[in-house]
Amino acid sequence: MQEDLIVMAAHKVVCWECGAEVTDPYANLCPKCNGLLTVKMDLSAVSEITPEDLRSKKLGVWRYAPFMPVDEANKVSIQEGGTPLYKTEALGEALGVKDSFVKFEGLNPTGSFKDRGMTMGVSHAKELGAKVVGCASTGNTSASLAAYASKAGMQCAVFLPSGKVAMGKLAQALFFGANVLSVDGNFDDALALARKMHDERKLYLLNSINPYRPEGQKSVLFEIIDQLDYEVPDRIILPVGNAANIWAVYKACTELMEVGWIKKMPKLTGIQAAGSCPVATAFQDGSMDVIAEPNPETIATAIRIGNPISGKKALKAMYDTKGVCTTVTDEEIIQAQLLLGRTEGVCVEPASAASVAGLKKLRAQGIIEPDEKVVCICTGNGLKDPDTILNNVPKPIPCMNDVADVERILKEAAAPKE
Ligand code: F0G
Repeated sequence: MQEDLIVMAAHKVVCWECGAEVTDPYANLCPKCNGLLTVKMDLSAVSEITPEDLRSKKLGVWRYAPFMPVDEANKVSIQEGGTPLYKTEALGEALGVKDSFVKFEGLNPTGSFKDRGMTMGVSHAKELGAKVVGCASTGNTSASLAAYASKAGMQCAVFLPSGKVAMGKLAQALFFGANVLSVDGNFDDALALARKMHDERKLYLLNSINPYRPEGQKSVLFEIIDQLDYEVPDRIILPVGNAANIWAVYKACTELMEVGWIKKMPKLTGIQAAGSCPVATAFQDGSMDVIAEPNPETIATAIRIGNPISGKKALKAMYDTKGVCTTVTDEEIIQAQLLLGRTEGVCVEPASAASVAGLKKLRAQGIIEPDEKVVCICTGNGLKDPDTILNNVPKPIPCMNDVADVERILKEAAAPKE
């Protein structure tokens, strides 16, 4: 196979609900029926290649360029993707699961999975000639967009719910030089304002309602399957907030099925925080209609979202794959975050720990079997939110500059607890 056989696949933007083709590059909803949009890829060129052919490129989003709707020649990249898939034996033992893995998305350039979507979204914005880009965010999207806008030389405005963004994420957006707007309201209010700005053509919106964003996010699934040598896991668990990521993972699975590279679908399992769970509520009702929650609240601020834009897509992903959607409490999230750190040496942010908390809960309920091969996607780095960590770990130990004092402290620490 020659490298130049791999060209950008043809694609079109269509309405996910009525199927109409949408040609206005600024449309974020269907002009005919107001439905969500999606990208329809023409994957006929992929039938000429094999998974092995892609491996000549290093692991990362752009290894999967034949599945992406942006010409790689226009890419704005800071080397996103290529994150580790850890085999988590000690965690699995603690939870009673034989074959568990963690895909650690916190090792992306800005510390979250958002970089996968942002390389695609900002590259497409560049193709369109956009000068100003923007997004609403619970934190990670804004940190990521701010970085990619810097790289692309674009002005960037981010709309954040006032007082509810973890410190590391806020610091990143400010550091990369974004115009950081602290909006009086929650994420849903901030998104409504950002969408108004987009609709008036004052900026190009890069929230996940933009159909190009989930296209880049598909790459996390491509990598997981690649890292498992095309053995499909039984289940993939991930946190659900605005609900696009689980849909992106689902879309990636359907595309691999379409080209015949995999033969079964993993059960896609979404986890929400108990105080912010409109998608889980709809799932429990067997419904496709997400009823917005006006006052979502959770320690996992990344997924503190009451009116998830892609809720319907997420529900389809879970129903179609015979997955599950459930909730975990803030306490369960913090316990899972600590457990992952102390069994595997992996530090994830609270929203990301929701996937591990979900695994624990569903295993305890017998919904997940002990011999399932399970992958938890841990979407963001724990250092994003040091305040939450410091509130839930012991204080540093005062110590004299003296060997005997150190010995005393270590002995006390190692002594069995009553
Ligand atoms: N995990 C983390 C760390 C997140 O930051 C987000 C979303 C999610 C999970 C949920 O993904 O929205 O596709 O269901 N964060 C967005 C943001 C909302 O603004 O950073 P989703």
